[in-house]
Amino acid sequence: METFWLLVATVIVIFVVLLCQKLIKVSQKFSKDLSAFKNVPGLPRHWLFGNVRELAVWSDFLCRMQREFIDEKGVKMYVFWLFNLPIVMVTHPDTAKDIMKSTEPKSLDLLGYGGLLPWLGQSLLISNGTKWERNRRLMTPAFHFDILKPYVEIFNQVADVLMDKMLKAARESEMRTILIHPHHYYDTIYRWSSDGQELYKLCDFVHDFSVKIITERRRKLEESPDVIKKRHLDLLDILLTAKDEEGQGLSDVEIRNEVDTFMFAGHDTTGSLLSWSVYALATYPEHQSKLYEDIHNVLGDRQSVHW
Ligand code: HEM
Repeated sequence: METFWLLVATVIVIFVVLLCQKLIKVSQKFSKDLSAFKNVPGLPRHWLFGNVRELAVWSDFLCRMQREFIDEKGVKMYVFWLFNLPIVMVTHPDTAKDIMKSTEPKSLDLLGYGGLLPWLGQSLLISNGTKWERNRRLMTPAFHFDILKPYVEIFNQVADVLMDKMLKAARESEMRTILIHPHHYYDTIYRWSSDGQELYKLCDFVHDFSVKIITERRRKLEESPDVIKKRHLDLLDILLTAKDEEGQGLSDVEIRNEVDTFMFAGHDTTGSLLSWSVYALATYPEHQSKLYEDIHNVLGDRQSVHW
């Protein structure tokens, strides 16, 4: 009996020690963040909730910040707090420039991207440290000017397709709302929910699709390696043929993760950017005219871009 209680007491002590360690770590990070952000503009924060209560309606919050901080005070960035987590909003090109010019190593804190892991795996976006450095180095040749140049032709073609689609969408106009439940941030809960199960099913579908394409291209490259010299190189060619200093290439899963990441990172961002740009240009016709004039000055009578 005594042994039993000794065991229980040991488990409780270990639990309390681990909990205290975690709390100390969290509070150390919190006080570091508080001092780092003390001069960054933002709404006053509640000691526990941060600014969560002001965020209840996200669009209202953004409009309020736009009015009170950007329009009236002209701030170049502001911060808001999700409990003890600071989120920085970049609101001026000068701030964006400072971030882009920075040579700081990629953050080790990948918070917020965890939900993408089942789909994208540890690709460039979600990895850091030596794994990120190696894969980033192996992929850099894919963005050499000589590889990108032949794509200008394709950019012109797809720009035309996009314009046709926008014209159609402008006539039909459809809006969708997706609701995200906060408890779904916990993977153990999420994977048992119907949404989570659908996500894992869709991930399997997307992964199978990518693997089929990768396997097929690998087979073709092995059968006739010279084929690569006869056409434009694409990202998949680079991923399949890249080798590190030890002669090791990327595994099929690593390639699949990078391909899925490029598909996601490439369409979600540009889609959002284009939508907001079109919205902003429609809201401010005087800027629309300036942009039109600018494009006309560069292109003259030509219908497409050359490089
Ligand atoms: C307007 C368009 C785009 C915007 C605003 C944008 C924005 C960003 C941002 C902010 C990051 C950093 C994310 C982070 O580390 O937390 C990022 C990373 C990344 N983006 Fe984009 N992106 C755009 C277009 C694209 C396109 C077209 C592709 C690929 C076809 C792409 C591929 C990637 C990849 C692979 C990463 C991870 C890079 C790394 O950590 O090494 N992005 N992007």
